[in-house]
Amino acid sequence: MIQLDTSNARSFVSEDWLSSRLDALESARQKLETGSGAGGDFTGWVHLPRDYDKEEFARIQAAAERIRKDSQALVVIGIGGSYLGARAVVELVNSPNFNLTHKDGPAVYFAGNGLSTDGMREVMDLIQDKDWSINVISKSGTTTEPAVAFRIFKNLLEEKYGKEEARKRIYATTDAKKGALKGLADAEGYEEFVVPDAIGGRYSVLTAVGLLPIACAGVDIVALMEGAREEMEALAVPGEANPAWQLAAARHALYTAGKKVEILVGYEPSFRFFGEWWKQLFGESEGKDGKGLFPASVEFTADLHSMGQYIQQGERIMLETVVRFQNSNSDPIVIPHDPDNVDGLNFLAGKELSFVAEQAMRGTLLAHVDGGVPNLMVTAPGRCAKSVGALIYFFEYVCGLTGYLMEINPFNQPGVEAYKNNMYALLGKPGYEDKKAELEARLG
Ligand code: PA5
Repeated sequence: MIQLDTSNARSFVSEDWLSSRLDALESARQKLETGSGAGGDFTGWVHLPRDYDKEEFARIQAAAERIRKDSQALVVIGIGGSYLGARAVVELVNSPNFNLTHKDGPAVYFAGNGLSTDGMREVMDLIQDKDWSINVISKSGTTTEPAVAFRIFKNLLEEKYGKEEARKRIYATTDAKKGALKGLADAEGYEEFVVPDAIGGRYSVLTAVGLLPIACAGVDIVALMEGAREEMEALAVPGEANPAWQLAAARHALYTAGKKVEILVGYEPSFRFFGEWWKQLFGESEGKDGKGLFPASVEFTADLHSMGQYIQQGERIMLETVVRFQNSNSDPIVIPHDPDNVDGLNFLAGKELSFVAEQAMRGTLLAHVDGGVPNLMVTAPGRCAKSVGALIYFFEYVCGLTGYLMEINPFNQPGVEAYKNNMYALLGKPGYEDKKAELEARLG
């Protein structure tokens, strides 16, 4: 389903960019399939589109139906992998303006993905006169940002509905056995959904982590999983023709040839948060042991009038991975004829806007390649749930493969702990007293 064109990257790498990596790719494939590589305990996502828990899936659908009936707003509390995937899919399949354009079901607000007072206050104001529910999502159940947000929104919900009714409006997605959120959910009797042990946050969008909020936003999660399953089957076939093998090999070859930044390019405003999800997926997976392509994202053609200058003529350290959708979601827009033609645009009269966009994309591609930026073109059928499910699985699989080509563990994120420990110490968390004194002395 997902196609790849590497022809505009080949002049930047040696002729054997793919053939010389086939053995390493086969070894990476086996590690992913069997969970025998570094971080192999976290490869539960590889067969998830086929092996997912069908009983839980039905409960997710039922809970989403209930929320769609009894709530005008859903507050989704989570950060990182417990947030980005759901927002990416809601915006890509629907729209970044989903809360203004949706016709039925709840508006979906995301909270607990930062510590901004203004950001949280805005969500609190937006929901106060509505009927609303909470989906709190945290695998560890102890992450500060969502835990603080949950305490605040739970309090608000209990003030509005009383403890009993509030309980029925809280849905907790967390570990099956451990963590503070698990303990709270058990004690309070919230409906619970599970983040499987074998799936890390950034690979969890196709578990309850993503599926419940996505279903609440009216996206067809059956089609989403079906797209991912078909892609899983297609990518399980080893060999040179496999587009995930090609993309992993091309990224690795370009990285080895000195390209250190990968820019994900989209041409749709609705793609922006998919870029945020993709950045987390690749950044947390590859950026370790002093290695990894730095993942960035841009929205064209808007960013051609800002970042375009740097991409064309700045440091020659970049490659572009463009995601193109074959079909748009809405009716064509035709550019009208103007008898006065003062703007000189009559040469476009009668043409569809999508034709203009296509030529802009083709022209940009060649300009950037001429400027020393290799181009990898990923094509997805459209922005429907099935196609987006396939795109998610495609990038997850590429990420796993490249991680093993780069000889790192693509499934851990030890670097994230450094800021957390400093924050805990500065906040006065018990057990961090010495660290607090040391940091405060440094900060003055
Ligand atoms: O990918 C990851 O593992 C992280 O981004 C986590 O998802 C993020 O830190 C949130 O963790 P948790 O779900 O435990 O609150």
